[in-house]
Amino acid sequence: MNTPPSAPSAHVLRLLAAARRRTDAVIVPLLERVGPAPARVLAYQWGVWGAQGQPVQGSRTGGGKAVRAALVFACARATGRPDTDPLVPAGAAAVEMLHTLSLLHDDVMDGDELRRGRPAAWRVFGSDAVEDAVRALTPHAVGLLFDTLPEPAATTATGLPGSPPPRDPETLRAPARATAVLGDALVRLAQGQALDLALEREPSPGVAATLRVHADKTGSLFACACALGAAPAAASDLTAFGEHLGIAFQITDDVLGVWGDPAVTGKPAGADLSARKKSHPVAVALTPDPDRADEDIPRQLHGLYALPRPWTASERAEAGRLLDRSGARAVSQAAARGHARAALTALARVCPPHEEAGEDLRALASFVTGRPY
Ligand code: IPE
Ligand code: IPE
Ligand code: MG
Ligand code: MG
Repeated sequence: MNTPPSAPSAHVLRLLAAARRRTDAVIVPLLERVGPAPARVLAYQWGVWGAQGQPVQGSRTGGGKAVRAALVFACARATGRPDTDPLVPAGAAAVEMLHTLSLLHDDVMDGDELRRGRPAAWRVFGSDAVEDAVRALTPHAVGLLFDTLPEPAATTATGLPGSPPPRDPETLRAPARATAVLGDALVRLAQGQALDLALEREPSPGVAATLRVHADKTGSLFACACALGAAPAAASDLTAFGEHLGIAFQITDDVLGVWGDPAVTGKPAGADLSARKKSHPVAVALTPDPDRADEDIPRQLHGLYALPRPWTASERAEAGRLLDRSGARAVSQAAARGHARAALTALARVCPPHEEAGEDLRALASFVTGRPY
């Protein structure tokens, strides 16, 4: 059965707003360091400036949900890591910056013209400017982690270094470890994006191939967020939590991409279909299934997907109708809930169910599969 999306709970809205506020406090000063041209693109994408560089006041229609930052903070809280550890907000900001650059690229790659209810950055600034902004941002995103290191020893009046205060070796190693986690996620993300594009040309790659894309392009960054937030002893279980949750998030995004309301998602409706993406519901509908009421649907859908030219409006509508009748929406929603359950199983190894420590993570997990945007 299809499940309609539901509004986020007040608890989740509070977590997202707090994550956004705390991440802003790191990212807004960073925008001043990347140079004026990249800053315009990045501040637009981050939702703090308009297309003409004017500050956006009040509700930030252009800003993202900050789910990944919220995961960093919630993982820190769930594992008793002190909020005063500067690597927590720095990690949240770094993950959101990788997410920002992935979306900047993604809209160019997918040819999508609408993001967060506004023209996509490449439509406003051009794809060369977007490319330059991504290049300018990457080292700064990593640099955020090293900014947390204590200041080097002050120099003496003679200009010679003073005797350095004793440094905790763990404090020195932690940013390097976090950078490696971020780097691994970036590599997987790029691989996932490359395979996502390659599958557009594959007639029927199957659901497993789609899930590989989802794990790499989205599970990677969710896992990275959780690893950066977690105290070291809990990092591997919370990484597994994040990986499953990211897959659930992406399957839900695929469902919203076909059946979501563009006024709520802020993204074009049906763009994945027109691009012939092998999103989760499409991969399901293309796969023959003897239990399906109308067994001919995969064959008819294949016929449309094999056309060597852009669809006409009526072919596009027919693809939508076939997908509706295929039952794929309910199958994909069930798959998303399955991954969310697997995430909760991994979480239970760190925070037993009903224990307060895991409350925020459990709330975020239920938001992921039920969300309307
Ligand atoms: C969009 O992510 C890209 C996907 C991985 C599906 P979000 O839905 O988290 O995007 P924003 O940041 O909230 O706009
Ligand atoms: C999301 O890809 C993953 C990344 C951006 C890396 P999608 O193409 O599915 O995301 P939306 O739907 O455009 O946000
Ligand atoms: Mg896209
Ligand atoms: Mg994409």
